[in-house]
Amino acid sequence: MDEQRILVIPGSVRRGGLNAALAQFASGKARSLGLQVAQMDLRALELPVYDGDLEASSGVPPGAHQLRDAIADSDGLLVVTPEYNGFPPPLVINAFDWLSRVPAGDSRPDGLKATAGKPVALLSASPGLYGGLRSINFLRQYLQMAFQMVVVPQQFTLGRAHEAFGPDGELKDPKASQSVVGVVSALAALAGALRGAEARGR
Ligand SMILES: Cc1cc2nc3c(=O)[nH]c(=O)nc-3n(C[C@H](O)[C@H](O)[C@H](O)COP(=O)(O)O)c2cc1C
Repeated sequence: MDEQRILVIPGSVRRGGLNAALAQFASGKARSLGLQVAQMDLRALELPVYDGDLEASSGVPPGAHQLRDAIADSDGLLVVTPEYNGFPPPLVINAFDWLSRVPAGDSRPDGLKATAGKPVALLSASPGLYGGLRSINFLRQYLQMAFQMVVVPQQFTLGRAHEAFGPDGELKDPKASQSVVGVVSALAALAGALRGAEARGR
């Protein structure tokens, strides 16, 4: 089987952001596990806040099609997101809301078909003690319920994340590092199993 392709989506694009740092760290671990890693820059998609009138007049923006393509071309997703007021940030929810509006075309699935049955793992980082636990619990429900994604049971939240990284971008705490590897490995195992099942069903 080819290398598995993992799409990493940092839920914050802030320069020097903690979730971008955790996404970078997890991407490195994924590569050492033999996975092919692509990173999605949500800012580069230039998605406006979802607006039904805008959709009616101009259609779904190209950035949402780009997100659909990247998801369709991956075997699994790793979303690394902050927590804003106990919830995933609008950057993440808005991108997925637009994704859900992407129609099928050019022999590509619609947005919801691209996500259905696809595995996704969740990580979060925050300076707070709980590291964005509430955010990923909501995100788990949202991706499972609305997008029919298969959310990996293992998840990890990095608390006190502003103190967690060394100057080399590595996590200082070996236990935290091991937890990230655990989540990435679980994602790879699930993506592999689902790909195998799909190939057998063909
Ligand atoms: C609007 C807003 C709401 C926030 N709410 C929470 C929160 O509920 N829980 C939490 O742990 N941190 C919260 N924070 C702090 C973020 O965790 C912190 O800014 C973090 O660094 C953002 O992630 P980033 O570094 O990847 O950009 C909030 C920050 C903002 C801007």
